[in-house]
Amino acid sequence: MNENRKAILITGASSGIGRATAECLAYNGFSVYGGVRDGKDFQELVNIPNISPIYLDVTIEKTIQDAFNNIKEQKTGLYGLVNNAGIARAGPLMDLPIQDLREQFEVNLFGIHMVTKTFFPLLEKSKGRIIMMSSDSGFFATPFFGPYCASKFALEGYSDSLRRELLLCDMKVILIQPGRVATPIWDKGKKLLKRETNSIFTPYAKKLGEHAIEKGKSEGLNPKEVGKVVYEALIKKKPKLRYLIAPSTLKYRLIKILPERWIDRLVNKEFRKIEENL
Ligand SMILES: NC(=O)c1ccc[n+]([C@@H]2O[C@H](COP(=O)([O-])OP(=O)(O)OC[C@H]3O[C@@H](n4cnc5c(N)ncnc54)[C@H](OP(=O)(O)O)[C@@H]3O)[C@@H](O)[C@H]2O)c1
Repeated sequence: MNENRKAILITGASSGIGRATAECLAYNGFSVYGGVRDGKDFQELVNIPNISPIYLDVTIEKTIQDAFNNIKEQKTGLYGLVNNAGIARAGPLMDLPIQDLREQFEVNLFGIHMVTKTFFPLLEKSKGRIIMMSSDSGFFATPFFGPYCASKFALEGYSDSLRRELLLCDMKVILIQPGRVATPIWDKGKKLLKRETNSIFTPYAKKLGEHAIEKGKSEGLNPKEVGKVVYEALIKKKPKLRYLIAPSTLKYRLIKILPERWIDRLVNKEFRKIEENL
């Protein structure tokens, strides 16, 4: 690790947004600790200049503590934490096993809390920044993505509280809200759709789920675009509190101003269209 570069820890750096962000920050002057969970990913990152892979599973306290001790020993300090690691659980809420909801929150919220709390002493020392990888699902809840949306709404609330608390330490907490990004997360979601369920919700969930996955893969932004925004959030003197990342923000502006019942009516219209083709 180069001591003249500010150090950043990114969780979930093995693929998608985390990997692209790690590469972007490493290329643009930071030293990056990239969180990984397996040896193959470790070996890949070890070959990239200015990235040091580090074993870190956000649901396993021991790996978080070991990563903290490891980084502390390097004496690089820590200027930034990018809480990027995330999973997406989906499916009709009324068919959802509680275990799925628990797994969703273990990674997307409780894991973030454990990591942030553990690394706080280093971040406080540097008056550093905490970047939270939220989503457009953090302010707009789509049907059949309930567990994921619930976890990102929770993350938004957690981050708003933390940001206000950390005003006392002169630190910044910044939310990133990407729309669709083309990453392996969509193929992981595909496996969930194949699960055998048979309820009144199944055909609607399958149709809308397949549509979302196909759009995510074909129209999703390049994850490098998110990396660039994280870079901006880390270097700008006055970063935004939230960065919404999408090719067009019109849809989102409408969602925020339209009465919620109108949006529900649009959702219902989609359901009727699906029925016509059943
Ligand atoms: N793709 C999108 O359209 C999109 C949009 C908005 C927000 N996001 C958010 O962006 C973040 C990254 O997602 P992505 O799209 O880049 O997906 P991805 O390619 O599936 O990457 C997810 C990353 O999280 C890691 N991870 C999963 N569980 C973990 C755990 N328990 N501990 C540590 N790391 C863990 C994965 O590691 P392994 O390889 O070891 O599983 C992987 O590195 C997520 O928070 C996601 O919600 C994505």
